[in-house]
Amino acid sequence: MKHSQLLTVFVLCSLAVSCGKKQNSIDADALIAKTEKQLNLLLGEAEKANRIPRTLNAEREIHWTMESFDWTEGFFPGSCWYLYQHTQNDLWKKSAEKFQAQYESHKYSINNHDLGFIFNCSYGHGYKLTQNPSFKEVMITAADSLITRFNPEVGCIKSWDVDRGWQSQRGWKFPVIVDNMMNLELLFEVSKLTNNSKYADIAIRHANTTLKNHFRTDNSSYHVVDYDPETGEVRSKQTAQGHSHESSWARGQAWGLYGFTLCYRYTQNPAYLELAEKIARFIVEHKNLPDDKIPYWDFDAPSIPEEPRDASAAAIMVSALLELDSYSEQSYTSTIEQMLSSLASPSYTSGDGENKGFVLDHSVGSIPHGAEIDVPLNYADYYYLEALSRYKNQY
Ligand code: GLY
Repeated sequence: MKHSQLLTVFVLCSLAVSCGKKQNSIDADALIAKTEKQLNLLLGEAEKANRIPRTLNAEREIHWTMESFDWTEGFFPGSCWYLYQHTQNDLWKKSAEKFQAQYESHKYSINNHDLGFIFNCSYGHGYKLTQNPSFKEVMITAADSLITRFNPEVGCIKSWDVDRGWQSQRGWKFPVIVDNMMNLELLFEVSKLTNNSKYADIAIRHANTTLKNHFRTDNSSYHVVDYDPETGEVRSKQTAQGHSHESSWARGQAWGLYGFTLCYRYTQNPAYLELAEKIARFIVEHKNLPDDKIPYWDFDAPSIPEEPRDASAAAIMVSALLELDSYSEQSYTSTIEQMLSSLASPSYTSGDGENKGFVLDHSVGSIPHGAEIDVPLNYADYYYLEALSRYKNQY
């Protein structure tokens, strides 16, 4: 390299360091632009049907979210908010507002724990971008509904009701799933919005109980811990969406990683950071994590390497690792860049105009339920877009 070229590299590196940014090998702007092009197509389909897209069915037709209540309904509007944040194009703001309004009344729902997923990813993100006071009201109402499910004896929010559906056939009394960590962000946000610590206090109790009971000695997590609602005793540790009770369901590990990282963001409690780092180590160093860093649907799936991958788990993991990287002494850069470049490759990203406009393919909803296997999922796209956005800000 010539002296002048070396000088240019040195100046660029110094500039990156002085801006607090790291060197990067991923062109996040180009990938966000590509994502926008695909989601524009999906938006056209959503507009025609006036419904929120969730996935593709076996015929590769769009499967829409259930109008009565659907844990994934917030992700498509949430992706629209990310695109509005990046493009300032009013189309994305109007689309987010239109589609999130379809489920606003679910803020009163008290028979499901998924309110954090639904309302924080859409109304919560929208509130940060617009300060629209009506969005704040929706978040507060949703948080008030969510905390009705908190049991002080157990120290957790109940995930699933057990009086109906397949959950009623498992003998559980008070099931708590690791996914529930994701609903705590809504509670922390609403505590800040209302200046009332009661929401954050419940989030912290839930996180502490989960930290105590959900994790194995190798730092992997169970999917479901069932509690006695009278005494708070643990009744059983099982799975619902993983391969077996003692296996490590990939998306569950992703939810735990993301959940404890976000708890550290709001509390600065080093126990949460330490657990997030341990979960990250479990994932990153696992013998069954493939070279392209996109996990199989369960780290212990019986027929690896002939098992489906789960791009949704990878998208959640990489978004969480990006946040963890900003707090931790460890560096996760090489895993982050490998995961992002794999997701962005034709192995996982739809070709232009393919898959009705979903961005990522090859995710898994629930193999034990025979549902959504090797398909696009709206939450895979949402967390991928979030990861690209975090990468763009940090690198
Ligand atoms: N409960 C959300 C999931 O399937 O990961």
